[in-house]
Amino acid sequence: MEKKEIGAKTYLYPMPTVLVGAAVGGRPNYLAVAYIGIAQHAPPMLSFALGKSHYTNAGIRESRTFSVNIPSEDLVAVTDYCGLVSGSRVDKSALFTNFYGKLKTAPMIAECALNLECRLVQALDYGGINELFVGEIVETYAEEKYLTDGLPDIQKIRPIIFSMHDNNYWKVGEHLGKAWSVGRKYRPAGG
Ligand SMILES: Cc1cc2nc3c(=O)[nH]c(=O)nc-3n(C[C@H](O)[C@H](O)[C@H](O)COP(=O)(O)O)c2cc1C
Repeated sequence: MEKKEIGAKTYLYPMPTVLVGAAVGGRPNYLAVAYIGIAQHAPPMLSFALGKSHYTNAGIRESRTFSVNIPSEDLVAVTDYCGLVSGSRVDKSALFTNFYGKLKTAPMIAECALNLECRLVQALDYGGINELFVGEIVETYAEEKYLTDGLPDIQKIRPIIFSMHDNNYWKVGEHLGKAWSVGRKYRPAGG
């Protein structure tokens, strides 16, 4: 096995594609985000890295709230658009049907399958081009059509998967096995 050194890059594959929303000057604004992940299980927290120059950052600081919206495959073009244009130049507030939840200040996208309403916990500057926002998820919103037995169903949500460095979007593929289950039959070699 010969491995090539292909550079210290952000090759954490696969990446999700979400729309982070915040009100900037009271106006909803959304940007596409792939650098996002779960930070803690309980209380539930997530974190994401934003370029310091983005317009949305000011809105997150302003209200100390934001939303993470999971678009389905059919929203791929408008999601990409939110990643192409900045709210500093283009008004993105009418692209979607906006709604608000219990925090009252974090705009969310009705057309998205899942909406995670979040309260800002911390904004971290670690000296690079990004800043890291850490937020607590205070509520999740979903239409019944995206759920099975009350839980988010990936086959109904049809999220958009992203491969960053070749700039491509992908669909979810086939079911591979049950988690915390397929490993039960596994036997280490020689064991
Ligand atoms: C698929 C995709 C993923 C992106 N992921 C991120 C990300 O994780 N962090 C980031 O700062 N910008 C990311 N961007 C770029 C921003 O979405 C883009 O610069 C956006 O126009 C900023 O909007 P704003 O200035 O209105 O906040 C991504 C763009 C695309 C198309």
